Amino acid sequence: MNEIEKIKEEFQSQKADVRDLNALRQLKARYIGKKGIVTQKVRSLSSLPKEERPRVGRELNLLKSFIEEELKKLEKALSEEEAKRNLLKDHIDITLPGKYIEPGSYHPINQVLQEIIDIFVTMGFSVEEGPEVELDYYNFEALNIPREHPARDMQDTFYIRTETSDDFIVSDVVLRTHTSPVQIRGMEKRKPPFRFIAPGKVYRCDSDVSHTPMFHQVEGLMVGEDVTFADLKGVLEIFVHQLFGPQTPVRFRPSYFPFTEPSAEVDIGCILCGGKGCRVCKGTGWLEVLGAGMVHPKVFESVGYDTERYKGFAFGMGVERLTMLKYGIDDIRLFFENDLRFLRQF
Ligand code: PHE
Repeated sequence: MNEIEKIKEEFQSQKADVRDLNALRQLKARYIGKKGIVTQKVRSLSSLPKEERPRVGRELNLLKSFIEEELKKLEKALSEEEAKRNLLKDHIDITLPGKYIEPGSYHPINQVLQEIIDIFVTMGFSVEEGPEVELDYYNFEALNIPREHPARDMQDTFYIRTETSDDFIVSDVVLRTHTSPVQIRGMEKRKPPFRFIAPGKVYRCDSDVSHTPMFHQVEGLMVGEDVTFADLKGVLEIFVHQLFGPQTPVRFRPSYFPFTEPSAEVDIGCILCGGKGCRVCKGTGWLEVLGAGMVHPKVFESVGYDTERYKGFAFGMGVERLTMLKYGIDDIRLFFENDLRFLRQF
């Protein structure tokens, strides 16, 4: 009897020292676990004189349920405390300033490029792409620019050294100098009538305030049985009016390209001085924005089209130049310096 009281007292004093769930589990094992003090006492009941067993048994049962009850209460209190501690540890201070994530935006060249594409898609043109590393055949030969043709000097070509050519000067692989080779590739895949544009990067060995070694062009091509120069004028006028506004004057000036005949250059009234004459239009009141013309029969021959039956027009423009004029930018290199103070203005 005394012994049971003693166990109870000991349990209570040890319980007072328990600070966490781990210590609680140990205390539980020590008293009512498989080898616990109380468990062993119950097991040794059989060694007591018969008449004492029921009374001692009852006392031990009471002690066991008392301990179980106390441990349960303590466990609840400790769990709550622990949960509170975790909450404090992980809690979020909603008064702190957030992390600012800078939103990205389209580069001005891509914005204008997309605008150009949208205008032509609205007029029924599809979009065609071709390789930037191009065969001499597609960049020159098939466009009526043979090897000794002086027009090759018009474009400062980057030649690619290939395995089969030791001397890179006679290499037949180039970085395309214009998007016109996509005309040829596009025609090889199609039968007229069709119309498509070819936007993309082009390369020329040239660098100053108005030239960079890489820039963007959009080429256009429309072929059919009854395509005329009037269609070319109409399409390009609509284009200019969409991009620069409906009041913009447009004029066609005779010019020369090996792959078109007749050829023209398209000017718009200077959007900076309104045609009065300024530094940008060099006093002329006009700005050149496009090259164009009727597809040369030699070009149709190189893709096997019937030159009697089919007519077509082609045009090409530089996206950097159009963007500079649209926004009054006077140095092309600003597009490629990635200065955020410049880029954020678009
Ligand atoms: N390919 C010419 C250039 O890069 C532009 C052009 C395209 C002219 C189509 C006429 C017709 O200068």
